[in-house]
Amino acid sequence: MLNLVLFGPPGAGKGTQAHFLAQSFNLVHLSTGDLLRNEIAANTDLGKLADALISKGELVPDSVVISMIEERLKKPRSTVGFLFDGFPRTVLQAQALDKLLMKHHSKVSVMLCLMVDKKELIDRIYKRGLTSGRADDIDLATIEHRIDVYNDKTAPLISYYESQQKYYPIQGMGTIEEIAENLKHTIQSIQKKHTHHL
Ligand code: C5P
Ligand code: MG
Repeated sequence: MLNLVLFGPPGAGKGTQAHFLAQSFNLVHLSTGDLLRNEIAANTDLGKLADALISKGELVPDSVVISMIEERLKKPRSTVGFLFDGFPRTVLQAQALDKLLMKHHSKVSVMLCLMVDKKELIDRIYKRGLTSGRADDIDLATIEHRIDVYNDKTAPLISYYESQQKYYPIQGMGTIEEIAENLKHTIQSIQKKHTHHL
């Protein structure tokens, strides 16, 4: 299987690029942010909990997002792989993902990290907020806080995957098309190099 973790700080372009990647490589796209926003829209108990945390730029507890992913992986389906977008967000989530995939006799193939300057992240998120209607996108203090949470809790995953030789930094500044090409080429060259391991 080809299981990709699309990684990067908030505003790095994970969601945008995930759509292209999922199409190009025929992967099932799992975005925990989208799943949580669906719960919010449906006004479920989980949605209410998530809304309170997301609007403040905080993370939803590990157990909650892990069971959401677990549910999705349980569904029987034939796919060449999964594209994880916005998950894992903590080391504990990464360890849980490894265990879940192991149950399915699979593993994370690569972690692709979109590299974008902080100033550009803030600009992108703020601009998105003007049209997305996302409460966590329009308040500058919340945006800054999300980046701090990323640096504090999520960035340690870089060494987690680096130690497994799965970490690939990707230039995340440029046009959407250029970045999509960067990602595609990186994955194709990894596939060529590791045909027997992926
Ligand atoms: O991934 P995305 O940026 O769309 O997520 C939006 C928000 O959802 C995050 O800022 C965070 O509050 C919440 N989230 C989370 N845990 C995840 C994914 C998203 O808490 N694994
Ligand atoms: Mg997203």
